[in-house]
Amino acid sequence: MAKTKTHYVCQSCGRTAAKALGKCPQCGEWDTYVEELLEGSAPSRGKAKGLTAASKPMLLADVNGGGEGRLLLSIGEFARVLGGGVVPGSLVLIGGDPGIGKSTLLLQTAMEMAPRGTVLYVSGEESPGQIKMRAERLLGAGGASNGLADGLLLVTETNMDAILQHVRDVKPSILIIDSIQTVYDPELDSSAGSVTQLRECADQFRQLAKGTGLPIFLIGHVTKEGVIAGPRLLEHMVDTVLYLEGDRFQSYRLLRAVKNRFGATAEVGVFEMAAGGMIEVPNPSEAFLAERVVNAPGSAIAVTMEGTRPLLVEVQGLTSPTAFGNPRRSANGIDPNRLLLISAVLARRLGLKLGEQDIFVNVVGGLRISEPAADLAMAAAIASSVKDTPLRADTVLIGEVGLSGELRAVPQTAARLREAKALGFKAAVLPKRLRTGEELPKGIELREARTLKEGLVLGMVGKG
Ligand code: TYD
Ligand code: MG
Repeated sequence: MAKTKTHYVCQSCGRTAAKALGKCPQCGEWDTYVEELLEGSAPSRGKAKGLTAASKPMLLADVNGGGEGRLLLSIGEFARVLGGGVVPGSLVLIGGDPGIGKSTLLLQTAMEMAPRGTVLYVSGEESPGQIKMRAERLLGAGGASNGLADGLLLVTETNMDAILQHVRDVKPSILIIDSIQTVYDPELDSSAGSVTQLRECADQFRQLAKGTGLPIFLIGHVTKEGVIAGPRLLEHMVDTVLYLEGDRFQSYRLLRAVKNRFGATAEVGVFEMAAGGMIEVPNPSEAFLAERVVNAPGSAIAVTMEGTRPLLVEVQGLTSPTAFGNPRRSANGIDPNRLLLISAVLARRLGLKLGEQDIFVNVVGGLRISEPAADLAMAAAIASSVKDTPLRADTVLIGEVGLSGELRAVPQTAARLREAKALGFKAAVLPKRLRTGEELPKGIELREARTLKEGLVLGMVGKG
């Protein structure tokens, strides 16, 4: 193939690269790469293919960069998930269900960044008119404070070559691709959104980012059926993978980092989808608890760690006699298998009669809890509903439930307790500490329990 016989050389400094780069990483000149035939044409056997000057070993001490010089973002929750700002040359993938707010969040970001440098927003999904309407909506409701800044350029384009040409012409300081599934490389036969196209186009964006230091955001849709040809496929190719989640019918949105070469993973930013776009929720625990009905049976407060941040959430349980057939177990925001396990432990170890009860568990606010630390709260919510007895309103419940009905310790207890205390909770039911390592905060009563049974007694009103 012709591709293996040529390489690209910067006409300004002589640096070579396997692909034509927009901006030369060595001399910083734009548009200087010209294709040249490799000497001796076909590479001889035994010689590594594609060995160019770019892959010369260098002393670690001489390598510059290393996460320095991040571009600051005033959307704090977004910056937090990215690990503190946008890293030059980083390739960031933002996945999520259609309609969840990916375009909105990135348009807001673009509008916010534009006064500090050109932002190129490439859309393959919406016309510039539609994007303008959205931008005006964001402006009108105060979701973006900078006005329609000069630095924000829109283009409707899906052809990879054309996009690269626009980047060369515009020389943006941030590039946003909405979405990667609509981009296609005309040299490939397969259609846009196919596995081949996704891989190839993402790889070209990766080279562009690495070669020029341009940070690139790729939007990717996750679809229930088409998971294969979606963001999952690209996860290993990019530096950072963020997922925007949440219930479409509820207003909270969680931006979660599942991979981050430049920061902590599992970090979560919380937003509310409002009339003015994605509004940051700086104190999510407060927001998640806002609508709680105090002293209602079936309501328990769990403390879950989302990345480095503890979040207080209400877990609701409802039991109701089964009308016919098998009893139902329905979980919203919690792993259904975890619900089955907890129900079984409640039935077998505590003797609760759940055999002819439908059980519903719901995590308020559209949050999805994947941590076993919320087991105790879930069990307590169910038990509280069965017994029609409320849980103590000023108490949080922390702990993993084991199959023997024992309560197991969970990590980062101190951080959880601090958050509970900060929100005015007076007590916490938690697993009895066998090792005293972590120093726990003072000013919140610790009610330690060895078993789920003990924990429920300590957590319920009028007992313990
Ligand atoms: P969008 O960003 O287009 O989602 P995605 O790019 O992930 O597919 O968001 C679409 C939804 O957001 C749509 O249902 C309308 C709603 N929305 C608001 O609630 N407020 C707003 O200010 C905007 C722009 C959109
Ligand atoms: Mg969109």
